[in-house]
Amino acid sequence: MGGVVNLNSLVCKIVFLFIAVLILRALLLPHNNLVFMTNNVSPFGFVIQQQKFLEVPQIVWGLNNQKIAFARACLTARMLNRTLLMPSLSASLFYKEIDLLKPISFDKVFKFDKFNELCSGFVQLGRYSDLLNTTKVIELQKGSGRKWTVERDLDQLRDYRNGSFDDYEVIKIVGKNPFLWHDHWSVKDYAQVFECLVLVDEISQEADRVVSMIREVGRNHDNDKGSIQNYVPYVAVHMRVEIDWMIHCKKLEQRLSTNQICSSKNEIMERVGNIKGLNKNPTVVYLAVADKLLQNSSILEGWKEGFLPYEKKKLGVDKIYAKYPYLIQSAIDYEVCLRADVFVGNSFSTFSSLIVLERTQKMIKLGVNGMCESSDVKWPSFAYNIQGEFNGPMRWVTNMSDSSLHAISYGTDHISC
Ligand SMILES: *[C@@H]1O[C@H](CO)[C@@H](O)[C@H](O)[C@H]1NC(C)=O
Ligand SMILES: *[C@@H]1O[C@H](CO)[C@@H](O)[C@H](O)[C@H]1NC(C)=O
Ligand SMILES: *[C@@H]1O[C@H](CO)[C@@H](O)[C@H](O)[C@H]1NC(C)=O
Ligand SMILES: *[C@@H]1O[C@H](CO)[C@@H](O)[C@H](O)[C@H]1NC(C)=O
Ligand SMILES: *[C@@H]1O[C@H](CO)[C@@H](O)[C@H](O)[C@H]1NC(C)=O
Repeated sequence: MGGVVNLNSLVCKIVFLFIAVLILRALLLPHNNLVFMTNNVSPFGFVIQQQKFLEVPQIVWGLNNQKIAFARACLTARMLNRTLLMPSLSASLFYKEIDLLKPISFDKVFKFDKFNELCSGFVQLGRYSDLLNTTKVIELQKGSGRKWTVERDLDQLRDYRNGSFDDYEVIKIVGKNPFLWHDHWSVKDYAQVFECLVLVDEISQEADRVVSMIREVGRNHDNDKGSIQNYVPYVAVHMRVEIDWMIHCKKLEQRLSTNQICSSKNEIMERVGNIKGLNKNPTVVYLAVADKLLQNSSILEGWKEGFLPYEKKKLGVDKIYAKYPYLIQSAIDYEVCLRADVFVGNSFSTFSSLIVLERTQKMIKLGVNGMCESSDVKWPSFAYNIQGEFNGPMRWVTNMSDSSLHAISYGTDHISC
């Protein structure tokens, strides 16, 4: 046996040496284009002759601020006809202490190759190892302050698109995080980038586990034990009742002189309880809450009969979440809300708004008509902070023809329905 193994490994070594010689020969012979070619062949066989890159500052704050900031960086790179160097996201959620924003590589959260495959011909991500000459960098300082208007910002980008910057391999944008840059793109452009963001397998499998636990609870509570139900629907509610949010939303209500932003726990339970058609069977309600920020576990009490409220702890999935930093926990919760049969959120939350955007896209793909009217459409979403019919929450779809993402980034009470 040992002799055979040794012989095999000897054959392996010879084959390896042979291949190594071939590769070395290819590299040493004078066709320099080889390096360019291997990096830049797109799935359609199109070869980009000159690789130009855009570098952006670390992307920070909540998962959805980060997604928007990332998409904005991609669209900026698209405008400059450059490849975006894969930026760092942030694993933790610290608003002010920049030092504590633990960087996490984009490809630890989303699939890198899948992104480029899905977004091919629209936007493109590159790696720092693709750079040929790290000295050929020019810095672009983003303007700030009241005088730095959207128009000036756009002019600046146009200037940098000028061929006179072609000699620089990298344009490096310095200054604020991309979420705070001026916005020049439509909801459709952002949606196209979001569609290319696919979670890495490890994270999406954790979301699978959480979703199957939720459906399991529903199956166990199904009165009709005789029928073998394979599909048990659930409602996900993105409940924003933690202290930080309450302070923020009260200020916002004052500033916008409205009372349609903050919803108390009771108002949320009341409105969700009034969604037509939900209380016929026992319905599992998954409460997506920021546990760390939540000081009151009473959110599980006071739900109408027929509603089975669960959060991470009661569901027994808190250990799954505990393994991960904030950003990943948030990504799992996002996925669980995205896949819910019914989603209810707050129209002034970026997290809720992005979920509704993706759910609206799913409806459009299914060719759903009357996304606002029909009561039995697939992927319905609601905003609990706005009162709808029968004292329930308001039906909510994203206006895909909006010319900017402002409504989604900063919240709105115009929710298209
Ligand atoms: C982008 O750059 C490529 C390669 O240099 C060029 O062929 C293409 O025309 C450029 N596109 C635009 C929109 O400028
Ligand atoms: C990189 O670019 C700098 C500045 O243009 C140049 O002086 C240098 O020779 C380049 N290095 C390589 C390895 O091409
Ligand atoms: C690019 O910049 C150069 C030098 O500033 C200028 O002469 C030229 O008109 C610009 N080209 C375009 C297309 O804006
Ligand atoms: C939690 O909420 C309930 C009902 O809203 C309230 O009675 C209780 O005092 C709260 N507990 C804490 C610790 O805030
Ligand atoms: C959607 O946005 C477009 C463009 O801003 C606007 O004209 C239209 O009225 C909006 N539709 C709804 C239903 O709000």
